[in-house]
Amino acid sequence: MSGDARKRAEALAYLSGFGNEHSSEAVPGALPVGRNSPQRAPLGLYAEQLSGTAFTEPRAHNRRSWLYRVRPSAAHPEFVRTGNGSLRTAPFNQAVPDPNRLRWNPLPEPEPGTDFLAGLWTLGGNGDATQRSGMAVHLYHANSSMERVFSNADGELLIVPEHGGLLLHTEFGLLHAEPGETALIPRGVRLRVELLDATARGYVCENYGAAFRLPDLGPIGANGLANARDFRAPVAAYEDVEGPVEVVNKFCGNLWTATYDHSPLDVVAWHGNYVPYVYDLRRFNVIGTISYDHPDPSIFTVLTSPSDTPGLAGVDFVVFAPRWLVGEDTFRPPYFHRNVMSEYMGLIEGAYDAKAEGFVPGGGSLHNMMSAHGPDRETFDRASAAELRPQKIDDGLAFMFETRWPVTLTPHAARAEHLQQGYDDVWQGLERHFRPER
Ligand SMILES: [Fe+2]
Repeated sequence: MSGDARKRAEALAYLSGFGNEHSSEAVPGALPVGRNSPQRAPLGLYAEQLSGTAFTEPRAHNRRSWLYRVRPSAAHPEFVRTGNGSLRTAPFNQAVPDPNRLRWNPLPEPEPGTDFLAGLWTLGGNGDATQRSGMAVHLYHANSSMERVFSNADGELLIVPEHGGLLLHTEFGLLHAEPGETALIPRGVRLRVELLDATARGYVCENYGAAFRLPDLGPIGANGLANARDFRAPVAAYEDVEGPVEVVNKFCGNLWTATYDHSPLDVVAWHGNYVPYVYDLRRFNVIGTISYDHPDPSIFTVLTSPSDTPGLAGVDFVVFAPRWLVGEDTFRPPYFHRNVMSEYMGLIEGAYDAKAEGFVPGGGSLHNMMSAHGPDRETFDRASAAELRPQKIDDGLAFMFETRWPVTLTPHAARAEHLQQGYDDVWQGLERHFRPER
C-alpha cells in the first residue's frame, strides 16, 4: 500500500449517528449544495443515486446515497458469465439439511494468486437471494490483493477478519479492517480488497434481507451494546484510472464479468445514509448480569437484520467479547440449550468459554435449528465446581451469525476435509448424577 493510501485509510470519519445522513468530498466543491441533482453537477461530475431500500420505505429505514462521479455507473459494457469458484448463493438445496452439530477446522491454504473474491468459500445458508431473504455463511482465505473490482447485487457483506488486515477500496473511499473489527459493504457497492499482510482469512455473512442496523435498546436506555459513534465511514477517495479494469458482479447467485475502460471506484463526493462502515468489536459495551443467571446471548447483538415479525431477525450478528462474570449461584458458561434459531459460530482469537478444545480461530461450528448443544464435559465439570469469584473472560473473541432459518450446507462444506469428525464426542461423558435412591 502506498503511503498516501495508508494516510487516507487512517483519515477515517466517525459516523455520529448510525443511519443518519453523512457526506464527504475528495475535492473541495465536488458536493452540490442544496440539491441532489443540479442541472450541471459541480466540477463536471455525474450525479447518481444508489438506493438500498425501495424509494417509499419509511424514513427511519430508508437508505440511499447520492454519488458524484467521474463517469456514471451506466457507462459499462455487457457482462458475461464467469465461473463462480467456491461461492454459492441461496437457495441452498443441493445437500440434505443436516440436524447434526457440525464443526470445521480453518480453511486450507489457498492456491498462489488467490484474491479475496476467489478465496470466498461458501459454507451454506438459507432463504432465497432472488426474494431478498435469508443469508449465507462464507469463509475466505486469500494470499493476493484484488486487481479487479467486485459488487454484489444479492446482499450486503459483513466481513469479519480473523487473520490479516484488509484495506477495502470502496466507491465511498477507503476502509481499514483488522482482525477484531468488522466491515460492512452494502448491497451493490463496488469493492476491491487489498491485503495488508501476506495472507488474509476470515468470515463473511452475506445478508440477503433487510440491511443490518443497530438493535433497539429498550430498557437498557440510550447507550450500550454497539454505540453508533464507533462506526467509521470512509472519507471520499477516488481512483482516476483510464484503462482496462475487470468488474465482477454477483447477480442472483452467479458471477458476471465485464472489462471497463476506467475504474468504477471514481466517486469524488457523496452524501447519504447508505454507506460502508467498519466497527471495532472491542468497543462493544458488554452488558450482563450483576445478580444471577445470564441474559440470553441476544444481549451481545451488535447488528440485526429485522424481518417483518417484530423481534424475529433474519440474521443477528452477535459478539462474545471480553467481559466480567460475577453471577452468584450461577452456571457461568453458556448453558445447555436448544434454539429455534440456527447458530453459526466463529472464533477471531483466543478461546471460547463453552469449549475446552477443537473450536479454533478460523474454524467454526454450526448448531442448526433445535440441535442440542452447550458446554463440553470438561467445561461443565469445571464450571459446576468453580468457586464463584468475579472472573474476567478476556482471552477470546468469538462471534455468531444467528439466523431464523436452518442453514443448509453446500455440498463442498458437507464433505470438506476440514469438517471435523466426531464432534458429538464433545458431549460424551456427561455422566448421570441423578440418583433418587440415595
Ligand atoms: Fe447456542
